[in-house]
Amino acid sequence: MNYNIALLRGDGIGPEIVDSAVRVLHAIGQKYGHSFTCTPYLIGGAAIDAVGEPLPKETVEGCLKSDSVLLGAVGGPKWDSLPGNLRPEKALLGIRAALGLFTNLRPARLYPALKDACPLRESVASSGFDIMIVRELTGGIYFGDRGYREGKYGEEAYDTECYSRFEIERIARVAFETAKKRGSKVTSIDKANVLETSRLWRRTVHEVAKEFDGVECVDMLVDNAAMQLVKNPAQFDVIVTSNMFGDILSDEASQITGSIGMLPSASLNETSRGLYEPIHGSAPDIAGKGIANPIATILSAAMMLRHSFSLAAEADDIENAVDSALNAGLRTADIAERGADYLSTSQMTDEIIKRL
Ligand code: IPM
Ligand code: MG
Repeated sequence: MNYNIALLRGDGIGPEIVDSAVRVLHAIGQKYGHSFTCTPYLIGGAAIDAVGEPLPKETVEGCLKSDSVLLGAVGGPKWDSLPGNLRPEKALLGIRAALGLFTNLRPARLYPALKDACPLRESVASSGFDIMIVRELTGGIYFGDRGYREGKYGEEAYDTECYSRFEIERIARVAFETAKKRGSKVTSIDKANVLETSRLWRRTVHEVAKEFDGVECVDMLVDNAAMQLVKNPAQFDVIVTSNMFGDILSDEASQITGSIGMLPSASLNETSRGLYEPIHGSAPDIAGKGIANPIATILSAAMMLRHSFSLAAEADDIENAVDSALNAGLRTADIAERGADYLSTSQMTDEIIKRL
């Protein structure tokens, strides 16, 4: 079988880590008899430099023609002073909206081999954790009405949070379906003591919960959730939350796994075409040095095989190869102990490919 993948390499370390993941895809294709045709398209700062806009029409069309999309990262200091609608980040929101990717899955688990990189107290780290964050990705304050106006104190800016019952129901269903296949617990995170959107969120999640006998449903306020993540992360199975709370909590969850360089993500709609990307950014400080950790992007490619192409054995194979490289003590700079030797991006990729 041949699969067409749109590659959005983007900026900073984006090209290096996407190329690593593509090498892994070709290796797994060779082993199992699949081929992957990868077509690059411009996005982010690279697109601004080449054609003057962060998300060219050809990129959106290319993604819509593909079977799935693999993205590196966008943004960097070079483009930071551009107005909001021309910033590289705008392309990310644009492609999520254009593909209707309302679900963002962000798994955060503590690898036993990386326990020492976990910043939590030994007694907390030793119980481990395996969390699936289900973040709503095409609604909320990221996509609400925004702008500038004259207010009581002169110039003011505003962004609005808006959620429909429909949007909450569909993301809640994804969360409960996911929990059914895992630990059967959904923690829904909101700010229902203050926000009206959160009160609708909470009410709707509980209505959906009734469809899922046997899955526990717990509410948690976002401030408490931020605290619980570092106090007792083992209590979480599936977390479901809004676009902005999910953005913030997933960075926090990534830190307690030891490195943000480890966490993949899948952005999905109701079709099989998804967008897969590491949750970390473009890391301009280390771009071009060949030392970025390719694991988050390689694991994102594995998620693509699982969720878009139903190639579960191939996805397992990649995940096991990553585990095995880590268990063998192999480390990139971000997860190496201070002063210890570490592998380059391409050496780590070779080691993972060797273990497929
Ligand atoms: C993420 C990122 C993006 C987001 C930014 C770059 C727009 O932080 O994917 O978590 O906020 O969604
Ligand atoms: Mg983020």
